[in-house]
Amino acid sequence: MSVNIVQVTDTHLFSDPEGVLAGVPTWKTFRGVLEQIERNHPDFDYLILTGDLAQDEALETYQKLREALGDWLHRCRIIPGNHDNPAHLRTVFPELFPKEGAPLTFSLSAGGWKIIGLDSHLPGETKGRVEAAQLEWLRAELAKDPGAPTLVFVHHPPVAIKVEWLDRVGLEGADDLIALVGASPQVKVVCAGHVHQEFSGSIGRAAVYTTPSTCVQFSRRSEKDFDPKAAGYRIFRLGDGHHTEVHRLDPAGHS
Ligand SMILES: [Fe+2]
Ligand SMILES: [Fe+2]
Repeated sequence: MSVNIVQVTDTHLFSDPEGVLAGVPTWKTFRGVLEQIERNHPDFDYLILTGDLAQDEALETYQKLREALGDWLHRCRIIPGNHDNPAHLRTVFPELFPKEGAPLTFSLSAGGWKIIGLDSHLPGETKGRVEAAQLEWLRAELAKDPGAPTLVFVHHPPVAIKVEWLDRVGLEGADDLIALVGASPQVKVVCAGHVHQEFSGSIGRAAVYTTPSTCVQFSRRSEKDFDPKAAGYRIFRLGDGHHTEVHRLDPAGHS
């Protein structure tokens, strides 16, 4: 039994199809990533979009995103980032989210694994937070399937990535999530976006990863600075263990 996951993050799309973020036309690189996934990983089981989907946080942008996902939608799950409007996400993707008023989380079981998405959106803030009630929900989800290896997605990384300006806008109150992951041996992987770069670390025995954006990349300098690396995404093959790798957009994908 195994399950194949693709993670796409920080698309920063605009309602304007020509919209540009720090010199990068975000729809063009996102479409390039989708085409590359279709070419190279068409057998994926789930496509997880881990936030910062709409730079302008406009309803129309989410509608265009839904259109772009097309018939992949039933294989998609979404969590919000700081650059997202939770109400618009709920309006445009009603089948993907819990009822009104609840955080935009998901939990699914596939290939013997449990895959969970957390909502770290904090209104008006760049940093994130996972509230106590949501941690209780996570605790209950983990308790339902204590024997299932688990992958947890959250937009804001729960550990410092050692890039000063990004760590200042990380996950507030991360210690509670870290403690829960540390006390839950079935959590094998925690994976985030937000920092627009590849990073790997750990919480106890759990691996922690971050993933490049589908548009602009940040460098590892202490102040905000861009990296010319190509757009990227991450794949996971989950079976007896987990295998993961980052893929970058082929140069041809830019044309
Ligand atoms: Fe982002
Ligand atoms: Fe973010």
